[in-house]
Amino acid sequence: MYADRVLSGMRPTGSLHIGHYHGALKNWVRLQDEHPCFFFVADWHALTTHYETPEVLEASVWDMLVDWFAAGIDPAKTTVFVQSRVPEHSELFLLLAMATPLGWLERVPTYKDQIERLRDRDLSTYGFLGYPLMQAADILVYRSNLVPVGEDQVPHIEMTREIARRFNHLFGREPGFEEKAVAAVKRLGSRRGKRYLELRARYQEQGDEEALEQGRALLAESQNLSLGDRERLFGYLEGARRVILVEPEAVLTASPRLPGVDGQKMSKSYGNEVSMREDPKVLTEKIRKMVTDPARVRRNDPGEPEKCPVWQLHLVYSNQSTQEWVQKGCRTAGIGCLECKQPVIDAMLAEQEPWRQRAQPYLDDPSLLRSIVADGCDRARAVAQETMRDVREAMGLSYT
Ligand code: TRP
Ligand code: SF4
Repeated sequence: MYADRVLSGMRPTGSLHIGHYHGALKNWVRLQDEHPCFFFVADWHALTTHYETPEVLEASVWDMLVDWFAAGIDPAKTTVFVQSRVPEHSELFLLLAMATPLGWLERVPTYKDQIERLRDRDLSTYGFLGYPLMQAADILVYRSNLVPVGEDQVPHIEMTREIARRFNHLFGREPGFEEKAVAAVKRLGSRRGKRYLELRARYQEQGDEEALEQGRALLAESQNLSLGDRERLFGYLEGARRVILVEPEAVLTASPRLPGVDGQKMSKSYGNEVSMREDPKVLTEKIRKMVTDPARVRRNDPGEPEKCPVWQLHLVYSNQSTQEWVQKGCRTAGIGCLECKQPVIDAMLAEQEPWRQRAQPYLDDPSLLRSIVADGCDRARAVAQETMRDVREAMGLSYT
């Protein structure tokens, strides 16, 4: 019904590290050549956990954006914006809240988990409980169907699908829907119309998912439908409702988890990160000091790459022949750890060079960032406003 549209957000954490790049940004950069993309800074999300330190928010937003553009996010192709500058997110959040059962939010797996993990903060707030619903609004307000996220976010996307389904079920009724749908079927033409009704019956009577897919494909190919008829026929295919909000899918990154220099997961809060634009000397030192297989106490002790975080970096940064050289050299004590680390250092420095170059114009002139974001917010708003018109109408709010 709607063309593919990619949406994702990231909390503003300031300048990014290579774990962010390989875990998310690299994927975003690829997607912008395949689909229309919307990427936003989730600043309201940051406040759900860090409401006590608003003074760090602004710098974190701009610093993170520099690294998005450094990585190759291209504002000519992609809509880049800041959540709090698009108030439609909050209106949809509010309206969805009316019909969202409390239990759905309480049962989000990360909820109790995070409250435990972030014990130093008081997260027994309404905002923190509601943040997965805010995320649902972020996605649904653009009717985006593809959402690149990490594994940990999949339950949120699942809940977003349920929210959309429930919304369409509760509010996707319109007076005379059945008659309008039947009239729209006629407008498909007799051959297509007949095929559509067959597929609809197969799905509704036998739960045949393949028929549902084929029915959707048939509608997607039918050029001569109005937007209203299209929505109706999508809804009529599945039941007797209009599809107002689109159920999204998670696009998982097959991302290797990058270890930090202490071997734990890379994270700023552990202080073990390699930044995307690290000073070359600092980068070299960090990797040279990085922990290795503890069995290699002396140069002559053989090691095991599987037990060494440096090996995880070789998996990302090295080609096959270097990887074979590491495996053999490590297990036979044929190479030393510093020797082994050098190809990783070289590959990282080479990777970062273009990032540094692309970042420079934004560092020289921060007003560039502001104008890209202002433009992105306008584009995002235009799409969000269209959805909100339909949402308000469906919820009985179109009288002004
Ligand atoms: N919750 C996500 C995270 O912590 C960030 C996010 C907010 C997001 N809104 C989103 C991701 C919408 C995808 C779509 O990583
Ligand atoms: Fe790790 Fe390489 Fe040293 Fe082996 S040789 S322990 S893989 S750094």
